[in-house]
Amino acid sequence: MIDKIKDYIGEADAFTTENKEELEAFRIKFLSKKGILNEFFAEFKSVPNDQKKEFGQVINALKTAAEDKVKGIVELLESREESKGVFGDLTRSAEPVIIGSRHPISIVKNQIIDIFANIGFNVSEGPEIEDDWHNFTALNLPEYHPARDMQDTFFIQTNPDVLLRTHTSSVQVRYMENNKPPIRTISPGRVFRNEAISSRSHCIFHQVEGLYIDKDVSFADLKQTLLYFTKEMFGKSKIRLRPSYFPFTEPSAEIDIYWGLKTETDYRITKGTGWLEIGGCGMVDPNVLKNCDINPDEYNGFAFGVGVERIAMLLYQIGDIRMFYENDVRFLEQFKASI
Ligand code: DAH
Repeated sequence: MIDKIKDYIGEADAFTTENKEELEAFRIKFLSKKGILNEFFAEFKSVPNDQKKEFGQVINALKTAAEDKVKGIVELLESREESKGVFGDLTRSAEPVIIGSRHPISIVKNQIIDIFANIGFNVSEGPEIEDDWHNFTALNLPEYHPARDMQDTFFIQTNPDVLLRTHTSSVQVRYMENNKPPIRTISPGRVFRNEAISSRSHCIFHQVEGLYIDKDVSFADLKQTLLYFTKEMFGKSKIRLRPSYFPFTEPSAEIDIYWGLKTETDYRITKGTGWLEIGGCGMVDPNVLKNCDINPDEYNGFAFGVGVERIAMLLYQIGDIRMFYENDVRFLEQFKASI
């Protein structure tokens, strides 16, 4: 029997593998519960007394040989895996890193923020889920005011007091409630309207609201601010302020920019006129100031709201507003250079 054990020691010493399954088979054969070693240990009782000592020594030698072998090979295999993790396969060909790009809406939004930051406007934000007060009532649109129909509203559940904001003008109210004049702030954000989706309009879009409140602010200040903005944004500043009506401003105007008709997309976006409406503006109605605890006899100001998609469509010659929301990487990848 001792010779048999010695043969096994020879087998264990000679064993080598780079394969985990083979190593496991070796471990089971020698070291598991039903393995060779346990069998020999079980036979220890029946070994004649004068051979017990030698038997004990060889069987322990076999145990050490098998255990050392398993340990050695496990360490070797693990160290190989580790070095793979750290260095990878150094012979593989170089793989170019894929760099993402900003969404065109974010690019334009950031540009607008920068342009207004240069003339002292900070950035403010408000919630997308609004209440009636901030979206309508405080903006001089009391209940049953017909102008509420100008913006088809998504209400949340059956509570008419909770809605998805239809414009970022709601942030004006929040800002004035929490800050004292002088105020110079712009509020970029997402807005929602229950409108049919087409190439020119969508039920989700983005606006940037502007608000300037101080003493003795004039309509000329508003016009100059918009001229500065369009010059910076588009490199040209031919604009037209078309008399209009918004409950929260008096007087009110629609802002049109003259873009021209150089391309087919220009034609499509401007409906063949060369002019595109990019938003609304006006002098803040005294009622709105009152609603926000600002004394209209002491302070006045102007406000404006522009559509981010409209601007992005002009700048990047995008003929269909739906492109912004489809997340087609072939579209989005084109803005890599614009970051
Ligand atoms: N809130 C208006 C809209 O969504 C846009 C607007 C018009 C904002 C005039 C203003 C403003 O601040 O003074 O159609």
